[in-house]
Formats: sequence, structure tokens, C-alpha cells
Amino acid sequence: MSNLRIGVPSKGRLSELAGELLKQAGLSFRRQERSLFARAGEMPIDITFLRTDDIPVLCAEGAIDMGITGSDLVAESGADLITRLHLGMGRCKLALCVPEDSDVQEPGQLAGKRVATSFPNVTRQYLAQHDADVHLVNLGGSVEIMITLGVADAIVDLVETGSTLAANRLRVLAEIGKYESVLIQNPARRESELADRVVRRLEGVVIARSWSLLEYNLPRQRLAEAEQITPGYSSPTVNALEDPDWCAVKVMVRRGDVIGVMERLEAVGARAILETQINNCRL
Ligand code: PRP
Repeated sequence: MSNLRIGVPSKGRLSELAGELLKQAGLSFRRQERSLFARAGEMPIDITFLRTDDIPVLCAEGAIDMGITGSDLVAESGADLITRLHLGMGRCKLALCVPEDSDVQEPGQLAGKRVATSFPNVTRQYLAQHDADVHLVNLGGSVEIMITLGVADAIVDLVETGSTLAANRLRVLAEIGKYESVLIQNPARRESELADRVVRRLEGVVIARSWSLLEYNLPRQRLAEAEQITPGYSSPTVNALEDPDWCAVKVMVRRGDVIGVMERLEAVGARAILETQINNCRL
């Protein structure tokens, strides 16, 4: 039986992040310098290193069975693919932007103007929905300087922190979509059981990364209040302490909420509140 082929970005930040994620999920591989292929762990999986923006189309064409790429690139490709998992990294949005001092207040006012982008398909669709018939300037990169260069009146580009926009004195006129890194799959994949195992393994790490384990001691009579603050993934684990008036609670909390939750727990009488990082899980 042939191996499951997974396409992974060959360079850039997503290449590193994807490598770390696969490793943490027990799918580590050793990449020889300049080699395009590697074998993952003990499983019959071949890793192929590809350009991030080629991964959606190569997956749709069946050259790879699965791939790690950006959902922005999946949307732009228009390819027939299954998104198996959102990977919780590389979050960004695609935005229609104009100069800070522009009078334009809505997309419709861009009719007849020039719009530069590396996302012509998503942009065309969005502007058509807003009745803005524009001239699209399709570029491979450096879109943010095209207004200064006199090439365009507006741009459609990815925004992460917003610093590129600020540096180029641009403002967001409209948000077109939100994107992040994803695991995609060819709908006619050959190795479905193996693909499902890969998804479960990666999912365990992705979920673990967004949750922490909190443990705390609490006067038993405050349990109902504490459960309101920390309802947990399904429900908290409550154990007895030697002092019958107290109990020990163990519960999963969204990582971004931990600090606020600790303060609220302290206010209802919790003590010895400890946060532990979860590396992997099966829920
Ligand atoms: C992306 C995007 C913007 C920038 C936005 O470029 O095209 O230029 O990041 O990020 P910010 O809001 O944090 O400033 P990237 O660095 O991926 O390279 P690119 O120019 O090749 O697209």
C-alpha cells in the first residue's frame, strides 16, 4: 500500500511552526539539506516540502494527500479541498485598505479605481458583492507600497499586527476575511484511516496548546461559585482534602483566560492556585 503524502511549507515561519507541530504530535522527520522529501516517524508517511501557496492546488490535484498551509491560500485557490483541522497559528485577516487621508468610506466608492493585491480571486469576489467594478493589479508581493508607487488607489493585503499598514500610512476600509493555518486533505484521499490518525494526533497538540490545567484548593461551600468561573472542558474534577471543609479542584481553562480566572478564583476563596501547561491530550 502506498504511503500517505503530506505537503509541508519548505521555508518561512510556517515551515518552522509546522515542523514543531508535527514533531510534538509524534510525526518527527529529518530533512536532509535541499531535499524535497522526508519520512515521518514510524508511520508510512512521506513529507514533501513545497511552496506554501502551491500546497492547496497540489493537494487538489492529488500530488499530496494532505497539506499544511494558510486558509487564505486555500480560499484564493478555489480548489476542492477538505479542511480537516484549524491549527491555531498564523492568524491574520485580509483587508481592503486605502490611504489614511482618503475620502473613501465604503468599497462601492472604489468603482473605476485600481486595486493591487496578491489575492485576485478573493478580492474580485468581494468587490463584485459590493458592486465595485475595479481594475485589479495582480502582484506577487510588496502590495503595501503600490499606492505610494502610484500603481493603485487601494490595496487588498494580509494584516497581522497592523504595523505594515501604519508604516505605509494606510487604514482598513473593510475586512474581507479571517484566516489561519490549516490542515487540508484531498477529498479522494487514498489512506483515510491513516489520515484520520494524523488528524487526531495533530488535534491533541492543537487543543493542548489553547488550554491550561488549573488546580486549586477551595472551601467546599464556595464550590458552586468556583464552578461558574471554571466550568472546565466537560466538568471539573473535585477531590476530597483531609480537612472536610475543603476540596481540591482540577480543571481545564482556556490559556488566554488563565490570569483573569486566577484572580476571580482567589476572590471566592481559592488558595494554592497552580497553572500547568498541557503538552498533548485526547479529549
Ligand atoms: C504579510 C502581508 C503584510 C504583512 C502584514 O507579508 O503581506 O505585508 O505581512 O503583517 P503586519 O500587519 O504584522 O505588519 P509577509 O511578511 O508575509 O511577506 P509578503 O510581503 O511576501 O507577503
